[in-house]
Amino acid sequence: MGKLDGKKAIITGAGSGIGKATAIRFAAEGARVACVDLRGAQDTVSQIGGDAFALDCNIADASAVESMVDSAVATMGGLDILCNIAGIGHFAWSHEEPPAEFDKILAVNLNGTFYTCRFALPHLLAGGGGVIVNTASTAGLIGQPWSAAYCASKGGVVMLTRALAYEYRDQNIRVVGIAPGGTNTNIISSFSSIPEGADYKLINKLMTPVKNADPSEIAGAFAFVASDEGRFITGSILTIDGGIVC
Ligand SMILES: NC(=O)c1ccc[n+]([C@@H]2O[C@H](COP(=O)([O-])OP(=O)(O)OC[C@H]3O[C@@H](n4cnc5c(N)ncnc54)[C@H](O)[C@@H]3O)[C@@H](O)[C@H]2O)c1
Repeated sequence: MGKLDGKKAIITGAGSGIGKATAIRFAAEGARVACVDLRGAQDTVSQIGGDAFALDCNIADASAVESMVDSAVATMGGLDILCNIAGIGHFAWSHEEPPAEFDKILAVNLNGTFYTCRFALPHLLAGGGGVIVNTASTAGLIGQPWSAAYCASKGGVVMLTRALAYEYRDQNIRVVGIAPGGTNTNIISSFSSIPEGADYKLINKLMTPVKNADPSEIAGAFAFVASDEGRFITGSILTIDGGIVC
């Protein structure tokens, strides 16, 4: 028997990295998963097989999120768990960052996370409760140079998580944050070009002490907090970073 037997879950960012590993882990634990991404979650669905299905959605587009959530809920006949994992970021000097790039990172990481919560919550309430697991970052807990937009967006996710946890605490909806440190996924390549003139030592300080995590190590935490084993966990931000934030 799996930790998530019979649960119906929406997972964003399921086409790659942590989201893909989480979708695979949730399915292995018995959940039915709606694998959401800009495009390409079909590969994840093929790997999972069974009754998993893919939905393309830009989470920064509120009306697209509303349609995606409604479609996922109609297909699954309800909703128990929402995992917000999609995200983007890059390094840039703040005094050179194009405002449109700042806006884009906030639009996906923070607004997108709010939109999925916004449109999933009525279904969770209608079903008598559920769990939302949001992806923050160590960069939402400590300052990271050349990452103002990313840090601001992830700090926003931390407080969004806490606010929703409190607001819906008495309606049987838990809201939890996962804050990974360096994890071997595609997003690392977006953070691979250090801005000209940047001091690499400042980046090194933020690196996971021993090694980066494997996405499956983060996926295990999603499964735990979303399952009944995590039933008393809400409003918490769980760092999984090998000891960056101590
Ligand atoms: N990998 C790390 O070191 C690390 C550390 C801390 C936090 N995180 C967070 O983990 C989450 C997952 O990232 P990852 O490391 O697996 O990277 P990844 O790039 O492998 O996966 C991110 C996924 O999000 C999807 N996505 C991006 N914009 C989207 C949009 N507008 N709508 C829908 N989907 C969109 C991408 O297509 C991709 O499949 C992100 O929120 C990221 O900020 C990652």
